[in-house]
Amino acid sequence: MDNSLTRREFVRNTAAGSAALAWLGAGRAPTVLAADAGKPALLGGTPAHKDGWPRWPQWDESWEPEIVEVLRTGRWCGHGASGKVGDFETAYADLHGARRCVTTTSGTTALLTALHVMGVDAGDEVIVSPYTFIATYNVVLMHKALPVLADTDPATLTMDPASIESRITDRTRAILPVHIYGMPCDMDPINAIAKKHGLAVVEDACQAWLAEYKGKKCGTLGDLGCFSFQNSKHIPSGDGGAITGNSDELLDRCKSYHDVGRAFRAFKGSGCFTRGSNYRMTHYQAALLIQEIDKLVSDTKRRRENADYLTAGLKEIPGVEPVRLPENSRAVWHLYALRYDAEAFHGLSRGKFIKALRAEGVPCGGGYHEQYYDGLLDEAINSRGFKRLWPAERLKAYRDSFEELRGNKQVCETTVGMFQTLLLADRSDMDHILGAIRKIHAYSEALAT
Ligand SMILES: Cc1ncc(COP(=O)(O)O)c(C=O)c1O
Repeated sequence: MDNSLTRREFVRNTAAGSAALAWLGAGRAPTVLAADAGKPALLGGTPAHKDGWPRWPQWDESWEPEIVEVLRTGRWCGHGASGKVGDFETAYADLHGARRCVTTTSGTTALLTALHVMGVDAGDEVIVSPYTFIATYNVVLMHKALPVLADTDPATLTMDPASIESRITDRTRAILPVHIYGMPCDMDPINAIAKKHGLAVVEDACQAWLAEYKGKKCGTLGDLGCFSFQNSKHIPSGDGGAITGNSDELLDRCKSYHDVGRAFRAFKGSGCFTRGSNYRMTHYQAALLIQEIDKLVSDTKRRRENADYLTAGLKEIPGVEPVRLPENSRAVWHLYALRYDAEAFHGLSRGKFIKALRAEGVPCGGGYHEQYYDGLLDEAINSRGFKRLWPAERLKAYRDSFEELRGNKQVCETTVGMFQTLLLADRSDMDHILGAIRKIHAYSEALAT
C-alpha cells in the first residue's frame, strides 16, 4: 500500500484491515446533507458517508533520502548522545517546552524507565488510571509493583483526582495519570496530592503529543512524561517512545537505565553501572521522526478544528455528550470520544448505536472495557512473587476494590470513540458524521426494536 503524501495527501480509502468498512472506498460522497432527510443505512437508507477516510500512517517521498543516509553511514545503533537520535531528542524536547528528552524503543519502555528512575520497586504501589491501554497496567506489574486503580471521572474520561487520596497507603510511591485519547488530565490537583504525600508523578502521555494543560504541554507537568511513536500514533515510527522532563539528574538516570545501565554524564550508578536494559531507539526511527514534526503540528491544528466543529454540532443532539476538558486545556484527539446516553435514543443500546453509525460509513468503537476483570491482575496477584511481597489480606482487598470503580464502569459502558484519522478529513465529512448521528437519533425508536 502506498500512503505517500506527495501522491495522495489525504487518501480516501478504508482503514487497512477494517472489515466493517470493506464496502467503502470508491467514489467521493456528495457533500449535501441528504443524510438528515433519509432513513438510517441499517433500515435501508443511504449511508451518510459513502467515501473512505484518510489512511494511516502517512508519509512523504521527500523523507526517504534521510533514511537512506542513515543506512549509508553504517551507524544505525542509537547509543550515545549524537546523530539523528540526539537531534530528534533536542527537537522533541523543544517542541514540548521540556528541558530534555530521552528516546526509547516504545512507550512501554519509556514508562518502564521512568517508573524505575522515580524509584518504583518491588512491593511498591502505584496509583494508575484504569481507563487506558493495557501497557499502563503492565509497566507497574513488570516492576513487581501493584497498579492501584483510581476511579475515572465520567465527564472527562481521565483520572478522578477526588478518588486518589483514599487509595494511598504507606507503600504508594507514584501516581501514573493517563492523558487518554489525547485529553489532558486535571494535573493541578493530582500534583498537589503527590506533593502532599511525597509521591512521584509520571505522566502517561503516550496518546498526548502536543496536548496542553494551563499553557504547558502534557509530558512536562509531572516529574517525567512518556510518549509512544507506535504505528497508529500521531507521530509514528513503527515503534518508538520518549521520556521528557526538566531535571537533568532524572534524565541522566533515564539515559543510563535505557542504555543497559551504563553511566551517563553525572550519573554513575554504583561505580559505572546501574540496573538497566536496552531500550535504545535507532537512528532510522529518529530520521523519520525528525521529519514528521512539522506534520504533527499541522495535523494537530486540523484535528482540533474538526473536533471543535464536531463538539459544537454534538451539543445540538440529545443523548450524545462531548467529553469535558479541564479548564484552559487543549486536547489532541487520538480518539474523538463522546458519551452516549441510550435513554435519549429510546433505549437503543450502545452496541446498536455503534453498528448503526458504522453502517453510515463512520468507523467507531466502544473504547476500553473493564480490563481489570480480564485476568492480567489476577495472574499477577496470584503469582509467587506478589504473594511474597504483600500480605494475603492486602491482595484480597485490592481485588475487591475493583467493584468501587463506578465511574470507570460507566465510562466503559457509555463511551463511543472515533479514530484520529477521521479528524483529518474535510469539514463536509464532519457534517456527514453529525448528519449520521442526527439520523440515528431521529429513527432511534425503529432502530431499537
Ligand atoms: C495510553 C498508552 N500507554 C502506553 C502505551 C504503550 O506504548 P507502546 O505501544 O509504544 O509501547 C500506549 C500505546 O498504545 C498507550 O496508548
